[in-house]
Amino acid sequence: MKKLSGISWRDFKALPLLEKGDYFQGTPPHTLIAQQFTREKLQELCALATRIKRINKRRDGANFLKTLLCDKRAMLYFAQPSSRTYLSHNAACQILGLDTMDVRDSKTSSEVKGESPEDTIRTFSSYADMIIMRHPVGGFAERVAWMLAHTNREIPVLNAGSGADQHPTQALLDIYTLERSFEKIGGVDGKNIVFVGDLMRGRTVRSLAWMLSLYKDVKLYFVAPEPLQIGQDILDLLDAAGTKYVVTQDFASTMPIADAIYMTRIQDEWDAEGESSTIDTSAFSIGAEHMDIIKDTTAIMHPLPRRKEISTDIDNDPRAVYWRQMRNGMWIRAALILTTFGRQDEVNQYYDNYKPGA
Ligand code: CP
Repeated sequence: MKKLSGISWRDFKALPLLEKGDYFQGTPPHTLIAQQFTREKLQELCALATRIKRINKRRDGANFLKTLLCDKRAMLYFAQPSSRTYLSHNAACQILGLDTMDVRDSKTSSEVKGESPEDTIRTFSSYADMIIMRHPVGGFAERVAWMLAHTNREIPVLNAGSGADQHPTQALLDIYTLERSFEKIGGVDGKNIVFVGDLMRGRTVRSLAWMLSLYKDVKLYFVAPEPLQIGQDILDLLDAAGTKYVVTQDFASTMPIADAIYMTRIQDEWDAEGESSTIDTSAFSIGAEHMDIIKDTTAIMHPLPRRKEISTDIDNDPRAVYWRQMRNGMWIRAALILTTFGRQDEVNQYYDNYKPGA
């Protein structure tokens, strides 16, 4: 087992993503990048999420779940805006009995008095047993985990979005949504997944695209205006994994073959000078006029928030799964948190004994 405490920050930072993952599996485990996951681990988490969801439906089951981590506290440190990721992590903690504390704006922490982000995190670790964090600086969550590994209080770190680069827990809920959407039509293997929008700065796409490379014969379509196309670094990872992909601006041609269409908004919060506003994105949206072109089984997804790339006209179409996708985040994050503390066997045992209905 490779330990974060046994490597310098400089050497760690220089490692390829796939090698970094080996450092996050120890005690405590950290969830920092999509590339640390195996397919086996994804399936384990998806199965556990469904069990938690079913157990939670009954009052006695919900009470049982609340006992599991009632001795733990989680710190939610969100230095960037969030609705879904913050709330679903908070709800996941509540389901498992963890108390939560939060800082949702660095301006309300002692960082405004000049405290470094590193000292701020160390302060959090004095009171909490886990840090769930979103930060605008790419790689900062990794830095936090590395830094805590060099203190006497290394607690698990969950990356809830970092820079324009990684959003591993969003990718988990996306995988869970795809698994559930394709449950009755042969699973995720062999499916065509179409990503649309701002793929260059969409951290959800970057994390999910790599996770999909763990599946057999999936084909990924990256549909975006040229300046917003997916990064070469992700394409290199897909090449190394042998995953087939197409890079195109032609959304219409991908619609009839898509098993999932993953829409994204323009991430103009990363603009230097409003440059996104000059890009014509009108051909990168979906609405009622497209519903006859796509398959009856196509899953239309979006990490949300949306702007105009998905028309509200299709919100009630059974293929529009983005609201379900959002709720799935709560269950898969509960599974992840439970696994982080190594308590998943108790849920599996409870489920096998009581077999709560689907
Ligand atoms: N999908 C997502 O990260 O949404 P929020 O920014 O609302 O958390």
